Amino acid sequence: MSEDQAVPGNLAVATALREGVETPAYVYDLSEVRANLARLRSALPERSGLYYSLKANPHPHVLAALREGGARAEVCSPGELDAALAAGWPADTLLYNGPGKRDADLARALRLGVREFSVDSPHALDQLDAVARAESVQVRCLLRINDDQPEPGQGLTMTGVTSQFGADVGWVLAEPARFGDRDHVEVVGLHLYMGTNLAGVDELLAQFARSLATAAKLRAEGFRVDVLDLGGGFGAPFGKEGGAVDLAGLREGLHDLLDEHAPGWRGGAPEVVFESGRYLVGTAGSLVTAVLDVKRSHGRDVVVLESGINHLGGMAGLRRLPPLNPTLVHSAGVGPAEPTVVAGPLCTPLDTWSRGARLPRLRPGDLIAVPNVGAYGLYASLVAFLGQPCPVEAVVDGDRLVHTSRLDLTRVPR
Ligand SMILES: Cc1ncc(COP(=O)(O)O)c(C=O)c1O
Repeated sequence: MSEDQAVPGNLAVATALREGVETPAYVYDLSEVRANLARLRSALPERSGLYYSLKANPHPHVLAALREGGARAEVCSPGELDAALAAGWPADTLLYNGPGKRDADLARALRLGVREFSVDSPHALDQLDAVARAESVQVRCLLRINDDQPEPGQGLTMTGVTSQFGADVGWVLAEPARFGDRDHVEVVGLHLYMGTNLAGVDELLAQFARSLATAAKLRAEGFRVDVLDLGGGFGAPFGKEGGAVDLAGLREGLHDLLDEHAPGWRGGAPEVVFESGRYLVGTAGSLVTAVLDVKRSHGRDVVVLESGINHLGGMAGLRRLPPLNPTLVHSAGVGPAEPTVVAGPLCTPLDTWSRGARLPRLRPGDLIAVPNVGAYGLYASLVAFLGQPCPVEAVVDGDRLVHTSRLDLTRVPR
């Protein structure tokens, strides 16, 4: 960065820029990842397990910090499996999830030593059984349940509605034999992941109360519940300023609910586990990107950045979700804040983060930071769309730069 460039964002961003990291760059702060893990652990029951969901951010240094901190790993693709193994998690500690799995991918996972899966249907049980038989192994699985109603307040509802995730409670109760053990598959527990990004403790407790009541109902009907995966939904700000969601009272509330619905949990029967992606890493990442061009068009300021929907919010860019409209942290610019169109460099009008961000007059070369994009940032973006290079990924630990890399996209099919 040049001498006269103002630094937007937090200490991690300042550290990366001071060390000469080029933009656009995702900056991940391992000290914040560790702090989030400690915060979430202390909000969950002491004897519970916690899986990190790699979909949020599979960067190797992020994974290493979480593994060293005692998180387990939840994966749902061959790529995530490889990332978890490379980060040092033993294969037989992983949970392999997902509503549709290819035979070849299951077989490979078994050969690599994975032994625990979440399944979503009788067919998925039969498929896992057939693949496990061919590989001559025994596996355990959790039966994913789609509850009867969605829980209000979810950022993204995954169950309680018609869904590819899980088997409806009513179906499971009506045809229990179809959801039972197979020769090579033991159904050891239940998996209830209802949705993501719940706003606070009240919403989380309401969701866990519902899941626990459903699990108790299934146990009363004879379903085995040695393992009870209660999912998560622990929220985090995305592309907006703010800190980790306050989880005060969650542990006590969970203790009461577990005592009521899952007596025995204190002795490990059932073993209670949770899953989290965004809470653990969301606040640990920022995207720093430079202004490439500034102009007026039809009476409005237009700013073109190095980054657009290819680096952040890709799915929103394609209008599958509401436009991202992220917070843009800046420390440059002159004059009053004016509504500004903020676009990326791609040759499509869809590459627009905001049509009315309130920004002062920026100049080419000024830097912008988008806070709290450590989860579902780069890895949920359209990086292969329109051939721009990937941003740098810079890993800092407090005020120390520890690693930089750039994903290498092979653009030419071979
Ligand atoms: C089964 C399952 N577990 C965990 C997660 C992680 O969610 P979050 O990042 O909101 O914690 C998801 C997200 O879709 C999921 O589907």
